[in-house]
Order: sequence, then C-alpha cells, then structure tokens
Amino acid sequence: MSRSEQAEFVVVANRLPVDRVVAPDGEESWRTSPGGLVAALEPMMRRVDGAWVGWAGQPDLELAPFTADGIRLIPIALSAEEIAEYYEGFSNDTIWPLYHDVIAPPQYHREWWDAYVRVNRRFAEAAAAACAKDGTIWVHDYQLQLAPAMIRELRPDVTIGYFHHIPFPAHGLYAQLPWRDQVLHGLLGADVIGFQRAQDATNFLAAVRRRLRHEVKASTVTKADGHSPLVKAFPISIDTAPYRELAQRPDIRARAAEIRAELGNPKRILLGVDRLDYTKGIRHRVKAYGELLEQGRISVEDVTFVQVASPSRERVDAYVHLRDEIELAVARINGDHDTTGHTAIRYLHQGFPREEMVALYLAADVMLVTALRDGMNLVAKEYVATRFDNRGALVLSEFTGAADELRQAVRVNPHDIEGLKEAIMTAIEMPASEQGRRMRSLRKRVLEHDVDAWSTSFLDALADARAKKARA
Ligand code: G6P
Repeated sequence: MSRSEQAEFVVVANRLPVDRVVAPDGEESWRTSPGGLVAALEPMMRRVDGAWVGWAGQPDLELAPFTADGIRLIPIALSAEEIAEYYEGFSNDTIWPLYHDVIAPPQYHREWWDAYVRVNRRFAEAAAAACAKDGTIWVHDYQLQLAPAMIRELRPDVTIGYFHHIPFPAHGLYAQLPWRDQVLHGLLGADVIGFQRAQDATNFLAAVRRRLRHEVKASTVTKADGHSPLVKAFPISIDTAPYRELAQRPDIRARAAEIRAELGNPKRILLGVDRLDYTKGIRHRVKAYGELLEQGRISVEDVTFVQVASPSRERVDAYVHLRDEIELAVARINGDHDTTGHTAIRYLHQGFPREEMVALYLAADVMLVTALRDGMNLVAKEYVATRFDNRGALVLSEFTGAADELRQAVRVNPHDIEGLKEAIMTAIEMPASEQGRRMRSLRKRVLEHDVDAWSTSFLDALADARAKKARA
C-alpha cells in the first residue's frame, strides 16, 4: 500500500461492516453484517478518516480495497478450510463456548489453533500495512486475540487498542485453554485492553498474574520489556438516534399497530430478539412461557410470544443442535396451545431490517433478554432507546453486561425457571405507572451512555497511551 493510501486510524475486526451475499441467480449484493460489534463501530467509523480491515463473509474472495458509505474497507481473504478451522472452529467452537462459561463444551484441536495463528498474522500484516506512521490501530474481539502482539512486532511506532466484546472467563475456566499463555501474550501487545465489565478485566488480570507472573498495579500491567498496557472496562452501547427517530415515524408506529393486529390483538406481547445462539437462553424462556400456559396462568388469546432468532454460525454443530431443540420445543408448545385464531409462539428464524425491529420493539409490552452469559447485550439497550413513550417492561438476565447498567429492569437468573416465570408475570402485570418510572430511568442511562460516549472514552485512553509513548 502506498504511503498516501495509509490511514491514521485503522479498525481490525473479523468481519467487515458489510457481508457480500450471492443470490441463487448469481447476483451479488452487500448487506450489513450480523451482531453487536458492527452495529457499535459503524457510527464512529463514519466520523473518522479511517480504514476497516476485515473478512467479507464468503470463502476465497480476493477483493481490492474499496469505499462503502464513506468507510475505506480492506478485505481479507479466507479459504474454505480457514473458515472451517479459524472461524467456525477455533473462534466459534473453542473460544466462544469457553469464554461463555462452557455453556456448550469447547473443542480443542491443534489444527484449529494453527489456522488461528496463521489468520491472525494475515489480519495483523494487513493492518500494519494500512496504518500511517505513528497512527492508531484498534483491534476487535476474540477472533483476533493474537493480532495486537503481532502488530506491535511489525509496527512499534503505532498505538494499539484491543476491545473484547464478549466475556472473559474466570481463571478456573480460562486455564483449560491449551494455548492460554500465547493468547495472553497476544492481547498484551496492545497499549489499551478494553473489556465490557469490570469483572472481565479482573478475570483477565488474574490470568496475567497467575500465568505470566507480571506485576499488576492500578489496572496497569508491567511487562519485562517496559511496555505497560492499561486494562479497563469500557461498557459498549448503541447509537440511540436511529432508534429514537424511527420510533417516532408515523409509518413505523402504524406498522407496530399492524403487528399487534396481525397477532390477534392480544393483551400482552412478549418479545425475544437474538442471534440463534446457545448463550442467549432462548430454550429457558420458551420453557418458562410454555409452563405458564400449561398451568393456565396465561392464555394464548391474552399473551403471545414473538421470538426472532436470526440464523447464525449454521455450520457449527452446537448451533445445528440448538436449532433442532428450539424448533422442537416451539412446535410442541404451539401444537398443545394454539387455537385457529391465536398462536402461542410466533417463531421467526429470520433477520429483519432495523425499521421492522423498531416496529416490533414498539409493539412489545415485555422484552425478554434471558442470556445465560452475554458480554453486553445490545438488544436490551435498543428496546429501551426505542420506548420514547416510557412504556414496556424489560426482563433482563443478571448474566449480561447490560445488567450492570440497567438497574431498573426486572432482573432474572434464567437458570431458575420458577424465578423466570415469576419475572415474566411481574412484567406482564406491571402497572403503567411502574413501567413509566422504570423506563425513564433505563432511558436516562442508555441515552447518556451511548456508543459515542463509549468510543470517546476508549479513544481518549488510547490518546493518553500515545502521549505516554511519546514521552518514553
Ligand atoms: C458477536 C461477536 C461478534 C460477531 C457477532 C456475529 O456480537 O461479539 O464478534 O461478529 O457476534 O457473529 P458472527 O460469527 O456472525 O460474526
């Protein structure tokens, strides 16, 4: 890459903000990538003059850098084998389950690790080539934990940030990882290492102390080479503006009313919105809802449950099994309780555009976020940002990062099915005055701590690191 094409600020993430999709007739198009990471980073990237290094979501795509929506994109090619070993394998069948408290058993395969090292190096080299002298590189998430140290080797002049979007597990679990020391060394290549919750930062520092015997003082690690990375929580958030604006639009509000009518105008609509992932506790919430029907505490005429489960990681075994389990459970409950006019669970294994999501949030009286473990959970924040009418109740798992901030939600331990049933009933029966009181406080938190506040605080920490580096 020529000097003039280098950017002052480079984001590196497994995915580009857009995925290339090829229709059955061979026509190609681009669509927004799934997940919270892209949603959180896109608004900041539109403001800065930067480049984004990532994968376009398809095998063997050798694409030249291009600009989309004002963001310079640098695609990384992955072969079908690398997708199987680095992405589906090590990232999503080793690290993902291990870091989410082994809800599913992590698989440890040496070939997967080899591919992870190889692909991390490819991302690191592309980022190092794309970054201007004394620039900044911000690496994202668990797919790229080795990249910070690799970039540091290639480009000691650059200031490096790393943000971890998912949980970092307690040492007793982390210690299972056969490559636990290599991963810590990889992360410690960054100048600022950010986590979602204070507990994640504490877990990481405990691993650094116990495995590498580095000294840790006031959130700063001191390494033998004098490099001293800062480790801190920076809870991520959303860009609230589009949610607030869409929620006020007459056509979207009309669509919300139409959704209620389509569902037979039940008294209460419960909503779940997740990637179809075993960390999200979808089975637990389906079970709790099914038992409430079974016990006659609610009826399908009065309370409908809409579950949007967007397809995710469909070639990883644990996800294939999860889909079978959920669809069996949903079909059983619907078979037992549906009437010709009303359905118990309206299950949608699809992704929807943001307009439709906002209409769903507006139509929903109760939002169910029952993750067994979740780094943050931005769906909870999207629901709150949408409810300008100060109505609706949020049921929120205490095992999400969001629970640290959204104190006025109805908190729940999703493993406790009786407790979950009580929480759902509390939300269903919550008087409008209490909904309003809680929602106002939830909204205050989300609107004040939006994604701008998040990126600004991380970038400020990086600027401090750069100043420290210049002095040294
Ligand atoms: C989570 C992860 C992201 C990931 C997203 C979607 O939000 O933190 O890194 O991109 O899920 O998952 P996928 O495997 O489709 O990229």
